[in-house]
Amino acid sequence: MKNISVGISGIGSYVPDRVLTNYNLAQMVETNNEWIVERTGIEQRRIADTNQTASDLATQAAIKALEDANTTPEEIDLIIVATATPDHTFPSTASLVQAKLNATKAAAFDMSVGCTGFVYGIATGANFISSGMYKKVLVIGSEVLSKIVNWEDRNTCVLFGDGAGAVVLEACEDGYGILSCELGSDGKEGNVLIVPAGGSKLPASEDTVKDKLHSIQMEGREVFKFAVRIMEKASLVAIEKANLELEDLDFLVPHQANIRIIDSALKKLKLSRDKACINLNKYGNMSSASIPVALDEAVKDGRVRKGDNLVLVAFGAGLTWGSLVIKWNKEGMDD
Ligand code: ACO
Repeated sequence: MKNISVGISGIGSYVPDRVLTNYNLAQMVETNNEWIVERTGIEQRRIADTNQTASDLATQAAIKALEDANTTPEEIDLIIVATATPDHTFPSTASLVQAKLNATKAAAFDMSVGCTGFVYGIATGANFISSGMYKKVLVIGSEVLSKIVNWEDRNTCVLFGDGAGAVVLEACEDGYGILSCELGSDGKEGNVLIVPAGGSKLPASEDTVKDKLHSIQMEGREVFKFAVRIMEKASLVAIEKANLELEDLDFLVPHQANIRIIDSALKKLKLSRDKACINLNKYGNMSSASIPVALDEAVKDGRVRKGDNLVLVAFGAGLTWGSLVIKWNKEGMDD
């Protein structure tokens, strides 16, 4: 990101109204509130209506981000939607959002990077701007994970929720905005977090539906170990690339999968819990939407201020990881 400094000029988020608590889940599968809170930190999550899709949630979040950036849909050059739950295999969810917003001049594409999608999306969008190709890029993380969860599998169904978050990226004051990024993938470990059917390997059939192969399958302990290792490593690399020291960090905006994973990252980065944007207790793991929703909350309640150094760090299906250092370039709500 050397040529033109790129920052977030607007941010917004949207979560569906319907709340599903741990107590509700205990009536659906063999689980209880204590286990879920103690092992994950999650107390409740939001669930979309049956007729709500990823593009619907994405559009709601985008409208708020555009408003915050004082930008009209017609000014947007590119829309990137990170999602593991697209409305269709094709057309892309980004194209559907483009139509819903009437963002007439925007190019549009989706990114399939699981929970790391939003970080990959920002890195991609920022490069289009820093290279001078585009001026305004809308990056959205949107998920309706409730539609791909096996509601009979207590190992996974307690973890996920629905929501969307969006940002507008554009050129910003030098020295501010995205200072560095680190992206990675280890495809050899892809099987530990997978939706096996519905693609070209296992097209939909009566058997794939009967065997619940269109739902999330996860080896929780393997993902956990990977997450703890990679959150620290990816954060440290991005901090170093930004020429900063650990002491320079103001906030961690981590992927919201499990409070124990976040606590471990905080410990290694020598940050206290109040220096992390944490909302998984309210929303669970919203995959690519987790980071922008958490960041939006922290910006809107005045915690994040101009000049703060933030680390956004995520891991997810692939397996993939990504981290960004951002020097917040907007005036804070209380500034
Ligand atoms: N309620 C009660 N008991 C449960 C539940 C539940 N909901 N789920 C599992 N258990 C049981 C297990 O069956 C097991 O019982 P057993 O010992 O009799 O076999 C016991 O609890 C312990 O299971 P573990 O898997 O060891 O529990 P752990 O402490 O590892 O927590 C968890 C499981 C929460 C899934 C954890 O491993 C985790 O968070 N992993 C990472 C998940 C993650 O980050 N996913 C990211 C997805 S990213 C994306 O791209 C979508």
